[in-house]
Amino acid sequence: MSQPQAKFLKDYQKPLFQISHIDLDFSLAQAQTQLIATSKVIRHGTHSDALVLAGDDIELLSVTIDNQSVDYMQRDGELIIETSLNAFELQIITKLDPEANTSLEGLYMSDGAYCTQCEAEGFRRITYFLDRPDVLAIYTVRIEADKQAFPFLLSNGNLVDSGDSNDGLHFAKWHDPFPKPAYLFALVAGDFDLLEDSFTTCSQRDIKLQVFVDKGNLNKAHHAMASLKKSMAWDESRFNLEYDLDIYMIVAVDFFNMGAMENKGLNVFNTKFVLADKDSATDDDYHGIESVVGHEYFHNWTGNRVTCRDWFQLSLKEGLTVFRDQEFSSDLGSRAVNRIHAIKVMKNQQFAEDSGPMAHPIRPESVIEMNNFYTVTVYNKGAEVIRMMHTLLGESGFQKGMALYFERHDGEAVTCDDFVAAMQDASGIDLAQFKRWYSQAGTPQIDVQEEYNSETQCYTLTLLQSTPDTPDGSAKLPLHIPFDIELIDVAGQSIVNKVLDFTQEKQQFNFEGLEQKPIPSLLQNFSAPVKLNFEYSVEQLVHIMRFAQSEVAKWEASVALFSQSIWQNIERLQAQQAMFIDPRIVDAFKGVLLAQDLDKALMAEILTLASAGSLIEQNDIVDLDNLKIAREFVVLEIAANCEDELLVIVRELAGIDDAATRALKNVCLALLLKVDSNYASLAEQQYNNAENMTDSLAALSALNGESSAIREQLMAKFEQKWLKTPLVMDKWLGLHATFTNDNCIDKLKSLFDHEAFSFNNPNRVRSLIGIFAAANTFEFHRHDGLGYQFLTDAIIKLNTLNPQVAARIITPLIQFKKFDLARQQLMINELNRILTVDNLSKDLYEKVTKALV
Ligand code: TRP
Ligand code: ZN
Repeated sequence: MSQPQAKFLKDYQKPLFQISHIDLDFSLAQAQTQLIATSKVIRHGTHSDALVLAGDDIELLSVTIDNQSVDYMQRDGELIIETSLNAFELQIITKLDPEANTSLEGLYMSDGAYCTQCEAEGFRRITYFLDRPDVLAIYTVRIEADKQAFPFLLSNGNLVDSGDSNDGLHFAKWHDPFPKPAYLFALVAGDFDLLEDSFTTCSQRDIKLQVFVDKGNLNKAHHAMASLKKSMAWDESRFNLEYDLDIYMIVAVDFFNMGAMENKGLNVFNTKFVLADKDSATDDDYHGIESVVGHEYFHNWTGNRVTCRDWFQLSLKEGLTVFRDQEFSSDLGSRAVNRIHAIKVMKNQQFAEDSGPMAHPIRPESVIEMNNFYTVTVYNKGAEVIRMMHTLLGESGFQKGMALYFERHDGEAVTCDDFVAAMQDASGIDLAQFKRWYSQAGTPQIDVQEEYNSETQCYTLTLLQSTPDTPDGSAKLPLHIPFDIELIDVAGQSIVNKVLDFTQEKQQFNFEGLEQKPIPSLLQNFSAPVKLNFEYSVEQLVHIMRFAQSEVAKWEASVALFSQSIWQNIERLQAQQAMFIDPRIVDAFKGVLLAQDLDKALMAEILTLASAGSLIEQNDIVDLDNLKIAREFVVLEIAANCEDELLVIVRELAGIDDAATRALKNVCLALLLKVDSNYASLAEQQYNNAENMTDSLAALSALNGESSAIREQLMAKFEQKWLKTPLVMDKWLGLHATFTNDNCIDKLKSLFDHEAFSFNNPNRVRSLIGIFAAANTFEFHRHDGLGYQFLTDAIIKLNTLNPQVAARIITPLIQFKKFDLARQQLMINELNRILTVDNLSKDLYEKVTKALV
């Protein structure tokens, strides 16, 4: 068999044909499902090339042009039609088997409902088509199905006709007036509960809003609906963007590969990002729903009205839309806490991707399987790049850029360069050098040196930037970096608060007239997605924690204090010395517990001590065994020295119905259980008194550090209570997956047979296997290699069942370079085992071969 081939950005060519209109006529009948697709095709430019359509895994029944049968050829995923006509009507009839489709791409069944997922290249699993985002067509869709089993028949745009047909069937016809690429097509047919509402836009148009959920879940749809209305209002007020169709539908399905999909007028969502009530959803779940509902809604302008020319430009819509959903969450909730969450994703996940075998620029140059590029780099680093432009241009300059972008490109499929050009032209700010952020992979490092001259009263910061080589071989030239700093004086007063324009490889910044050496708070608010190398003293960090104006800077300083102490103790362990913690560090954390003026959510963030996984990302290589010992030591020292303060908080804040209060109380509870396992009774009490899922789950996760009778009992109680609620059972599976115990893997294997688990459902797989590999650091990296084996067995099983999910959960296995040679070898052995699998998917092939070079 031939090896999968890469496609390159540099090879982009305009489509040879355009399809202006397409009529889809679906007869949904399980394995006998038929689709008649009738397209208006127009030759583009003067050429005599054949029409080449993409198609995967579909049975072709007939092809006609202008009602005449035609000759065609088929070869690996392509249908080739020779014709000399310049404009014609093409009709293709295909037969589909949605029930057998476990990949959850194209047309498939989720719990008895038909639904589709077409991004990135799923439409070609429905019919042969020019399945590329620069072919925009007007869709008319007729759906026919059994009336009783599938009372709701949905597609994009507006309903234009519906009625009964013979044999218990009925039909609906939808028309979407906005030309769109095939990846935004959607169809849903099923039986649901429906929550309806409406929104009046700024120009007084009434929009019908509908949220479809599985029967019996109507009471869990209200938060999603409220979030949708907030999103619509926010996009009007902050971005001056109004909704364009008369109806907006959200359908929640249990079987879904990702979070949600922004299909025009008909979003399809993973139930995880729709369903919530107090009993079954945590505060984090509520927040996640608001942000994903926002994200998909914001795509209507950034993604749908203006879309991508080709898939290399994915960050055009995703980076921008993530930036927009982050701003939405920050305007509605705590800006600092939202920023901290975004920074954690960058440092813990994106930095890891950027230093691993899959490193790529936010606009990749080459791709084997597009599904592998829905990454933290394209999404989250992409959002950071947009955020830097926002920092450089300011809110008003940025909004002028957005307005110009829509003025120029509404209805078009464009590139990242087009976006930057609009930002530059509208603001007058030169972004030529800035554009390198789009083509350079890897995390830039900034080395900072400070110097104070008491005679001249001048303080100097010297900045040096460099980017390590990455496997994609992209050039590493100096970047345009907005570098946000605050200088704080010894008394805690702010002297300087500004963003430095850092553009050269090495650059000096002087601050005159300072009577004393200031304390620098550097790269504030993570103003650029870079690694900062600066040797802060404990004293400086403590000072920043107390006096920095930025709450994010306080948090960053706390992470640095904690991390420094761990690195120092790892060195002591390596030198066979006793471990030790600087009392000033303990005092700094105690100071947070005692602070009267700090926001509780921020306190919770500071007291959520950096995870093993995030510590691993701070250095190129890691001594994992000593890291475990050192981290346990430092956590215990902090917790034990704050025992009284922790107890006061846990007792006083119990039962208060407020998310930030719960967050603070729950991290304190977890710390207490580190101090003394007798505090398990506190967790038990909290579990039994809990009036919401946040508190129940926090109690269980506090007990997850070691095995105990209380843990066993409560886990069993929880299981019994929630057995029939899959999204809640995901949390239970996740607790098993993160259990730090020698028997963890055996238990997980036994859960494969549990009625709440299924390899066919991505949420279940992520909870049991994905979370284990990504978050149970020390069990996954066991010396005996059983963790790697466990993951690999699951990946091999998923290779044919659901390649997208298989390739997603492999991430921790391909990032092996950080570990000792013995572990590396074990990981490489497993990757080699994957390579020997028959019919290896392109998804896994790409990641494994890149890891093994
Ligand atoms: N465009 C979707 C989003 O960001 C992502 C998405 C949903 C997706 N489903 C997918 C990407 C399936 C690839 C494959 O909101
Ligand atoms: Zn998106």
